[in-house]
Amino acid sequence: MKRKELTQQLREAVKNRNYYSQRDIYFVNESTLGKKFKDKDNARHEFEIGKFAFDNGVQVPEPYELISPDLILRRLFDNYALKSWFILIERIKGVQINQINDEEIRKEALRQLETEIAKLFDLRIYPYGCVYPDKSLFDTTKKKLYLIDFEDWRKSPKDQPFDRNKSLKYDY
Ligand SMILES: Nc1ncnc2c1ncn2[C@@H]1O[C@H](COP(=O)(O)OP(=O)(O)OP(=O)(O)O)[C@@H](O)[C@H]1O
Ligand SMILES: [Mg+2]
Repeated sequence: MKRKELTQQLREAVKNRNYYSQRDIYFVNESTLGKKFKDKDNARHEFEIGKFAFDNGVQVPEPYELISPDLILRRLFDNYALKSWFILIERIKGVQINQINDEEIRKEALRQLETEIAKLFDLRIYPYGCVYPDKSLFDTTKKKLYLIDFEDWRKSPKDQPFDRNKSLKYDY
């Protein structure tokens, strides 16, 4: 779908408070979610690192578009202007690993989790947060695991110095 059309659907979703699993994530259409960010840097980081991972074959939902807030003119004349930064991203129909009852399927999901994390290390991305059960979704129809929520992922310390406060947040 075209960017313009998707952006319009996002405006409608925000206007109608069409929340998905929580506030800040909107159901845009059957295959697209809109995730709201507090600022441009966070939105751009999640979009770009997600796109980089997707383009390099990591199993993540496809980031479709980075959407900036609407210009002031639209805000004045329209009642559904976007006031925040958003990313539009592929909607995954999946469950968390700890919600899988079948032991064989759960093992398969864990095996994929390990593989996808290894791919990220090969790409020199540190996927902070990835070990939490709510940071991946397993599509039981496709038998495919997707890593989600990339906002805490960091390029390797060599490319970008560690943020000590950030790394202390996670207790590995
Ligand atoms: N692409 C997606 N497809 C399907 N569901 C998703 C997708 N992205 C997020 N979700 C759902 O929304 C929840 C929150 O997503 P996400 O972790 O990206 O948001 P967040 O605001 O960064 O959360 P947190 O505050 O925990 O960091 C997920 O646990 C999942 O249930
Ligand atoms: Mg997050």
